[in-house]
Amino acid sequence: MAGCGLPLPPISPGSAMKCTPLLLLAVLSVIGGRADAADAARGESLYETRCTGCHSLDSDRIGPRHRGVYGRRAGSIVQFDYSAAVKKSKIAWDDKSLDRWLADPEKLIPGQRMGYRVDNAADRADLIAFLRRESDK
Ligand code: HEC
Repeated sequence: MAGCGLPLPPISPGSAMKCTPLLLLAVLSVIGGRADAADAARGESLYETRCTGCHSLDSDRIGPRHRGVYGRRAGSIVQFDYSAAVKKSKIAWDDKSLDRWLADPEKLIPGQRMGYRVDNAADRADLIAFLRRESDK
């Protein structure tokens, strides 16, 4: 085991046992990191700095309210005055469509009215994780 590659004291009879929990922890943190690559908490602070100029979770502003947006159809807040393009788009908001929307709304739905893009893919993933969390999905 040679100290599991960690700077441990010279090998003693019990060293292999001492290493096991450390190895397990390392393996678990890798698995955990993969399963939850997108970070909703980071997404929340990105949302506050980038999106709340136009959106909020619970009231319509320049853009429509966002709570529940994950899983609902584009343009479905009846009180909000969407562009005709979004209303007739028939898109359902999920990881894939939200990612495309945030990367380039005009490419996904030509004629839409959201003048904002998120260029960084990791930022988009975290924002989507946050929107998903706030939609109980
Ligand atoms: C400059 C104002 C503005 C900013 C900033 C903005 N949006 Fe929007 N957003 C809008 C407008 C306006 C619409 C409605 C577009 C339409 O009807 O064509 C919209 C629509 C949306 C929709 C579709 C909602 C629905 O009910 O179908 C999502 C999702 C969305 N925005 C997410 C975001 C996120 C996430 C951010 C932050 C990264 C953001 N927006 C930043 C103005 C903005």
